Amino acid sequence: DPELVAKGAKVFKKCKACHKVGEGAKNSTGPILNGIFGATAGMVEGFKYSKPMLAAGEDGLVWDEEALAAFLTKPRKFMKGTKMSFAGLRKERDIEAVVSYLRSFD
Ligand code: HEM
Repeated sequence: DPELVAKGAKVFKKCKACHKVGEGAKNSTGPILNGIFGATAGMVEGFKYSKPMLAAGEDGLVWDEEALAAFLTKPRKFMKGTKMSFAGLRKERDIEAVVSYLRSFD
């Protein structure tokens, strides 16, 4: 749904201070998010994750629709000790949109 992706691009402005996506993206405060949908947590090469994020990946956390929704709603509630300092997205529709946007960068 191209409209949802376009909405997601707007929502992603809230993430841009820390995350890059697309061709030539590099890790910064947060890891690059290319191909994050369906990926195991904590696997972007060259990014220094928190211990809980690494542990979650080792325990098999995969960023599917459900996990992303839970994490993006309240990052620090979903994952105690994460170093992603972001309050979270309140609206379900915003989460759906930003996930669609991220899925467009495989
Ligand atoms: C981690 C998405 C906002 C900093 C992550 C991960 C995702 C994500 C999916 C897990 C990556 C992985 O497992 O490889 C988003 C989205 C955002 C957002 C969609 C906006 C809605 C932010 C902001 C910051 C930030 C604003 C900085 C203030 C980080 C950091 C990590 C991370 C540091 C690594 C966390 C850890 O190791 O515990 N983000 N993020 N993110 N993000 Fe964000």
